This record gives sequence, C-alpha cells and structure tokens, in this order.
Amino acid sequence: MTDKIAALKKEKNAIILAHNYQPPEILEIADLCGDSLELSIKASETDAQVIVFCGVHFMAETASILSPEKKVLLPRLDAGCPMADMITPESLKAKKAELPGIPVVTYVNSTAAVKALSTVCCTSANVVKIISALESDEVLMTPDRNLAMYAESKTDKKVHLWDGCCPIHDILTVEDLEKTKKAHPDAISIAHPECRLDVSEAADVVTSTSGMIRYAAESDAKEFIIATEVGLLYPLRKACPDKIFYPAFDGMVCDDMKKTTLKDVEQVLENLSNEVRVPEEIAVLARQSVSKMIETS
Ligand code: 13P
Ligand code: SF4
Repeated sequence: MTDKIAALKKEKNAIILAHNYQPPEILEIADLCGDSLELSIKASETDAQVIVFCGVHFMAETASILSPEKKVLLPRLDAGCPMADMITPESLKAKKAELPGIPVVTYVNSTAAVKALSTVCCTSANVVKIISALESDEVLMTPDRNLAMYAESKTDKKVHLWDGCCPIHDILTVEDLEKTKKAHPDAISIAHPECRLDVSEAADVVTSTSGMIRYAAESDAKEFIIATEVGLLYPLRKACPDKIFYPAFDGMVCDDMKKTTLKDVEQVLENLSNEVRVPEEIAVLARQSVSKMIETS
C-alpha cells in the first residue's frame, strides 16, 4: 500500500501533509508532519499540484484558502472538529455587534466562513504573539475559551471569550494532572494551551504539538508528562527514543483525527476525490485573516 501511494504521489504531483495527531501509519507516509501553523505555511509554499491533507476538515479548508489554484483532498470528509462547530458566522456577527470596533482573533480551528469575519487568525504556536501585536487593548477571541484565557494570562490585553472548547483537551482536570505528576515526580509536564487554564498553570511548559516535540528533543530531562491528544506520543517517542513519555490522561483521544486510513489516502490520490474547496467570496476574506497571521508569526 505504501509503495502504491508513493507511485500515485509522483504520478499526480501530490504532497501529503499530516497533523501530528494522525495515526502512526499516516505520519510515516507523510511528506510533512506538523502543527497547524507549520502545515498552513507548507500548504501556502508547496509547488505540488495536489495537497492530500491528513487531518480534519478545517485544515483542508485552510490549505484551500492559501492555495486556491491547487486541488486539496481530505481523505475522510467526515473528519471534523467539534470545537470548530461551536461557532457559526451568524452567532459571530451577533457578538461583533455587541463589541463594536474590537478586533476578532480566531483560532485556525474554525470554519472558513468564521475566519472570513475575523481580523486575524492564530494557532496554539503564535496566539500570544498575534494578540500582543494588535493595537487594541481589548480583543474578542473565538472559539476556544481555554486558549483565550491562556492568552489573556500571557498578555496585558482584555480578552473577551467565546464559550467554545476542544472537548478532548477540556476533559483533563488539574486533579488528573496532579495525580500523574505524583506518580512520576521527576517528569517535566507539558500542556497544550487548549487545556483548561488551571491545567496550563500547573504544567511546567505550555506549547503547541510541534513545540512539545522540539522541547522534549532539546531538554536534558528524561521523562515527560504530555497533556494533549494521545496521538502525539508516537512522534514524541520517535523523535526521542531514549526518553519516556506518559500521557497526562489516556482518555484524551480525538476520534476525528483517527479516521484516516492508508486505503483512504490511496483512494483519494487515485481518483482525485474528496476535494475541499472554499468558495472564492469567502476565501478572499478568510485569506486576509490567515495571511495576516502568517506574516505576523
Ligand atoms: P497544534 O498542532 O497546532 O498545536 O493544534 C492542536 C489541535 O488540536 C489541532 O486540532
Ligand atoms: Fe478539534 Fe480538539 Fe480534535 Fe483538535 S483535538 S481536531 S481541536 S476536537
């Protein structure tokens, strides 16, 4: 199957991008694995004609926004992000009317239509930088309230919250984290900023998924507690075979990220099917928010 995928990739002039939470066999065949920011940048820079995006729907949309001349294929069209569905363009319009003149910072984990109504996008890797760079003392951040509270704690801005969250990260309580820390007292704890604020505050380090891999690789420590989706344990262990990684809580599983199979990848490459394309009237506005984020990063 992997040989067939490699041959199809060449034949169709395609590149395979995979988010760090994808299943191991998908990470192994990808040309680039990364966090949302790295994947967005790669999608905007590649020469390939076809991008196979192994991730969830909003990621393929972002690639299509940045590279409208390319075919962006999502191996599983049913792979969504529950957090991205916690805000609609209509509900954002109503909130903007309540907060006139306040810039809207939207996490890339959102639909293209919501990005189109936003001032700038951000990812977990650049949220503090993006919010700090805005002139306004107040911002509205959507849709992740945990990321917004984390950003507020790291900047001098007033951050208005949207009441959304990633259910996979929000499940982790500070009590669970403390229990895991007690079981592994020498381990450094690393949390994703989609975790609740008290979890982020109790962790030694807070960073994006690729930030976690870099931190563990560069650290002298030997043991780490990882507070994010458990799929990240595979690339962490691969990057640092001599180190030990413990999940903060092993129930942190994103089913949507686990849907992609090698067969799905082979089929979309063969048939150039499952294309995700954002209508140009939405893409033109969403592109401004995403490009502004990439320029500021
Ligand atoms: P990053 O990989 O950008 O840290 O994002 C995590 C995530 O939840 C993606 O869905
Ligand atoms: Fe969405 Fe959370 Fe899954 Fe990421 S891990 S795709 S934010 S539900």
